[in-house]
Amino acid sequence: MDRLSEDELTAEVINRLEATPSPRLRLVVQALVRHLHEFAREVQLTDQEWLEGIAFLTATGHMTDEVRQEWILLSDTLGLSSLVDMINHSDVEGLATETTILGPFYVPESPWREFGESTVEYDDGGEPTVLKGVVTDRDGKPIPGATIDVWQNAATGFYAVQQPGVQPPTNLRGRFLTDENGRYEVRCVRPVPYPIPDDGPVGNLLRRTGRHPWRAAHIHIKASAEGFESLTSHIFDRDSEYLGSDTVFGVKGSLIRDFVSNGDGWLVCEHDVVLSRK
Ligand code: BEZ
Ligand code: FE
Repeated sequence: MDRLSEDELTAEVINRLEATPSPRLRLVVQALVRHLHEFAREVQLTDQEWLEGIAFLTATGHMTDEVRQEWILLSDTLGLSSLVDMINHSDVEGLATETTILGPFYVPESPWREFGESTVEYDDGGEPTVLKGVVTDRDGKPIPGATIDVWQNAATGFYAVQQPGVQPPTNLRGRFLTDENGRYEVRCVRPVPYPIPDDGPVGNLLRRTGRHPWRAAHIHIKASAEGFESLTSHIFDRDSEYLGSDTVFGVKGSLIRDFVSNGDGWLVCEHDVVLSRK
């Protein structure tokens, strides 16, 4: 066989994938090869850099287990998670509440809580906060019986899943149902900015590229209702640091809210949610 040129090598690999039975898998893998080869050509990847890349990916795999998802952190910090979210959930008319990334600290099956109940099961400080709003369709019609699932960090910066044996596992998370007027109400604490876990290869990459690991303060919120598209989103605190440099590119202006004192020891955050019909 004649010696292949760089371009012929790329074409040959793509050609070998032509037999992939699934058209979607064929499209994805062929595009991946095309872009990988183009990347190596663009930067003129050296032997040493190739090996370093393999070592980085190996370390990323070794860091990953049931509770630590270093691959998702990598995707998040490279903006890939936000891009995939935009591709799949952009509401071109801009009528529904905007989505943002899920993050690694979501735990399904949070406890059901009553309207206005507190998610605080372990007090380590934090400014008492009432989060409330109405869930509607895109015409402003309230949706009774919608599920609001919230999770957030404590005043120390940690989520309950990051501190087993310290925080109870269901601390600062819960599922709520909207009432007959579509309203929900949650008692919680003000979230604080926090660094994403940066003691692994992704943290090293952030440091080597002169980036910080911080996320702007936020409460995570999922909303769902029969007949509507489910929503995965955040509520950001307008007074938070890092709104302009969130390390995982999750901030959207439409999701920034005020946390306002009611003069009675509580902060109030109003956040209405608009869902799209399926
Ligand atoms: C979070 O918001 O919980 C999160 C998102 C991405 C990486 C780390 C944490
Ligand atoms: Fe978070």
